[in-house]
Formats: sequence, C-alpha cells, structure tokens
Amino acid sequence: MKETRFSSVDEVVARLNPSYPVFVVFPDVLARRARDFIAGFPGTVLYAVKCNPDPHVLRALYGAGIRHFDTASLPEIAKISELLPDAHCYFNHPVKSRGALESASDVYGIEHYVVDHISELDKLNQVVGTDITVEVRVTTPKNNSVYNLSSKFGAQPDVAVELLKEAHKRGSRTAISFHVGSQCPDPSAYRKSLEVAVAVAKQAGVEISYFDIGGGFPADYGDPIPPLEEYFEVIRQAQRDLAINVPLYAEPGRALVADGCSVLVQVQLRKGDDLYINDGIYGSMSEIHLADLRPPVRAIARNGEVQGAKKPFRIFGPTCDSLDVFKVKFELPADIAEGDWIEFARMGAYSIGMQSGFNGFFTDTVVQVSGASTISGF
Ligand SMILES: Cc1ncc(COP(=O)(O)O)c(C=O)c1O
Repeated sequence: MKETRFSSVDEVVARLNPSYPVFVVFPDVLARRARDFIAGFPGTVLYAVKCNPDPHVLRALYGAGIRHFDTASLPEIAKISELLPDAHCYFNHPVKSRGALESASDVYGIEHYVVDHISELDKLNQVVGTDITVEVRVTTPKNNSVYNLSSKFGAQPDVAVELLKEAHKRGSRTAISFHVGSQCPDPSAYRKSLEVAVAVAKQAGVEISYFDIGGGFPADYGDPIPPLEEYFEVIRQAQRDLAINVPLYAEPGRALVADGCSVLVQVQLRKGDDLYINDGIYGSMSEIHLADLRPPVRAIARNGEVQGAKKPFRIFGPTCDSLDVFKVKFELPADIAEGDWIEFARMGAYSIGMQSGFNGFFTDTVVQVSGASTISGF
C-alpha cells in the first residue's frame, strides 16, 4: 500500500485549506520513540492501545518493532488482530464481560488476562477455562502521578497473594501487574511498586511468569520530567537488587505517542482575546482540560506567519455549552484572526481516541507528515 505523506504541517494547510480539524501523525517520531523504548527497557514492550488507537499510529509502532499490545476491550483486540495479524494481545482490563471473554478466547485466542478480584477470576475460569496466564493486578504505593490508577483497580497485597495462590491451584500460569499512574514524574515509583510485587510473589510462593510494570512513563509537556533513561536505570537497578529473574513487561502509552501527533485547528471567530476553534474538550483535546496540559502551540496563516507579539488568548471549543473552554490560556500572536490555524503539538496521547462526537463535532481527517513537528522540540 502506497503511503501518502505531507512534508510539513504547513503543506497540509496549503493543500487542504482545512476548515475542519485535522489530526496529524508523525510516523518518524513514533518509530523513533518505539525503537528507543525497546532498546532501553529491560524487557518486553506492550503498547497500551487505549492511548491512541489510530491505525496510522499502530502501524508506525508496529513498523518500529512493537509486537505486543495491551488491549482493554474486545474492539481493541479485534482492531489489533485484524490490522497486525502476528501481534500478541493481552486482555489487561480487570473487569470484563462474559461475552467479551468468550470472543477473546474463542475468536482471538487470547491467553493473558488481568484480574484483581476473586469474582473476576471465577468468571474468567468459567468462560475461558484455566489454561491461561492470570495476571494479578496489585495496587501501588501513593506517588505524584497526574492520574492515580490504583484507586479504581488493583488488589491490596494480601488479596493479591490469595488470588495468585488460587489461580495457581486451579492450574493457570500466574503473573503480577501494576500501574504506577499516568504521567508519573518519579522513577522511584517503579522500584517501590516492584518491591511490593516481589514481596507478593514471595508470599504467594507460586511460580511467576513475568512482572508487568504497566505504563505511566511521562511525556514532556513543558514541566521538567526526568529523561526516560533514568526510569530504565531505576528499573534495571531494581531488577538486580530484588533478584528478579523472570521477564519484565511494560505497557507504555503516553511516552510512546505523545510527541508523535499534533492537532491542527482553525479559528472560526475572534472576539477580543477569545478565540473560537473547531476542536475542544469533547473532541481530541479533552486532556488539556482534564490534566491542565500546556502543549506547545503555533499559529499558521494562509500565507505564512501570523504577525504580532505573543499574548494570552482564551480558547473555546466548538460545542454549544459553556464548559467547552480551556482553563489555561495560550500565547499566540496578537494579529491572529478568523481563518488562521493553530497547531497544538504533543497531542498524541489520550486525544483522538477520547473524542465523543458531541454536538456533531468529530475529527475524522487524519494525515501523516514526514519528520517531526517544528514546535515539538523533538
Ligand atoms: C492497564 C493500563 N496499562 C497501560 C496504560 C497506559 O498508561 P500510560 O499512557 O500512562 O503509559 C494504562 C492507562 O490507563 C492502563 O490502564
């Protein structure tokens, strides 16, 4: 299949003159991120599909060597299986419907499943049987991650011990997983959680096939974060200190894709220092709102640069309610006007996959651009 790629975001503007929002994928950036992660992480890398399930993104990661995928739903499993036939899916959602389990097992041959409660283990065994790997998800100690992913899922260590023993007794292979929370600014969180996981494994006294340390590796949104290599070093050190001699898995989402995509929007109306654009918090940009992100922005005019010194603008999205506005203001050139475009960079994570279609606004134009965004700093 011949791939169409634009040479730059400016070329997208010049050729499409888009009055609709455009989701821009940079496959070269995604491939480099994937290769760096595979090279640095001391184990198997699963991409967390929920983070950005766009087929261009999936193909770019696959092309760079990602073969394992953290899938949380049957549609994600179906998508990966159909798009990337030799890829391996793991059903890593702790709560699954019986119908989804049946299809995951019978249609797609999934062998790895996460549980954090005995009722889910019972359900899993009733529908799928026991010739599987049961990953028991354990809660993690508190840390400064932007999203806490242990408040909804994860068994307390003593419960995890019992689940592992029970899964083993029923004849399954066993593994342990956790998630330190998304956008985790502290590499030591992985060590602390690995200490918990290793203690749980010892107490359970069953053979552990692997430790899955989840996602959480941060992306650069402007606030200082340690380089990924620091996370890998902490994990390697923990591997040595805790004498971990079974494989490690990781399920990064954000760190693989954040700076590999931009959202290109058009200004539809200017009222003083308020701009009304054609994507917003119900579309591809909900995380700007949810996590107070400040992605880098750049104004583009039909014929080149937008003029004027930069000043803060309030930005409204397209839906009819007054909630569709970013809490943070964005610095843009003073002369920005209706018809100009704004590129929001580093928008690869939790963006196009989270749009709702509310009010009829939906981004369905995705383009690929060679190289990197001129404002991504990559
Ligand atoms: C089970 C699981 N794995 C991996 C991820 C990806 O996390 P991140 O994007 O922070 O790397 C998530 C995110 O919610 C998750 O729930």
